[in-house]
Amino acid sequence: MKAGVFDSGIGGLTVLKNILEAKMFDEIVYYGDTARVPYGVKDEQTIINFSLEALEFFAPHHIDILIVACNTASAYALDAMSEKSSIPVIGVIEPGIEALKSKVSNPSAPILIIATKATIESKQYQNRLHLEHYTSVRGLATGLFVPIVEEGIRGGALLEACMEYYFSSIVQVPQAIILGCTHFPLIADKISEYFGDKSLLIHSGEAIVDYLREKHQIMPKRALSSKLQLFASSDLTSLENVASKWLKKQ
Ligand code: DGL
Repeated sequence: MKAGVFDSGIGGLTVLKNILEAKMFDEIVYYGDTARVPYGVKDEQTIINFSLEALEFFAPHHIDILIVACNTASAYALDAMSEKSSIPVIGVIEPGIEALKSKVSNPSAPILIIATKATIESKQYQNRLHLEHYTSVRGLATGLFVPIVEEGIRGGALLEACMEYYFSSIVQVPQAIILGCTHFPLIADKISEYFGDKSLLIHSGEAIVDYLREKHQIMPKRALSSKLQLFASSDLTSLENVASKWLKKQ
């Protein structure tokens, strides 16, 4: 089985890592729209247009399933992409909600969603959680974490100051935090530490692997080693360099 993984840039490599480790696909084609990243500050129609162009990119690759690793594209463009596609197009939002439901049973538990400005403004996570009867849901746009992570910063004064800037107004420690952006798993330990390690973190990569197994019956194959091809709309070398670091086994 051949999968495509699409992201606005390099961030989707965090999702790709989980998919590779789960050994679910014979071949994976990753495409990052590095020429036009970030999507998280753009308007709805632009995000849809760029995502539909990404769909065209995958056409000659004859993939069986497309995974949209980007939360922002998942929030705005999934329906438009699905309509134009003959294969399943899976975003990260529904898997994130499913992961949260399986881990948080108390509907009044405080839940925090952190994501790009566009993802938060789409209210996709918030509305779906309300439909699942969660009553204490807060969405917070924390876009500055994106360049911080891309700069290679994983701790220290700048990240601490940024967390203080975004999180100091939160009075009740969240029971669960949805990491609603591809980059945030790379600073998950610091976010966790900030809240005294009391919050459960929901990670798109882990969530999508569970979702593919449970909802699409795509099972891990232990002996499999997926053939990976990386593509970027600009500066493939940078993407390859980041991939060689981020995809490394810890
Ligand atoms: N990949 C994006 C996301 O998960 C973050 C980077 C961007 O703004 O494009 O929302």
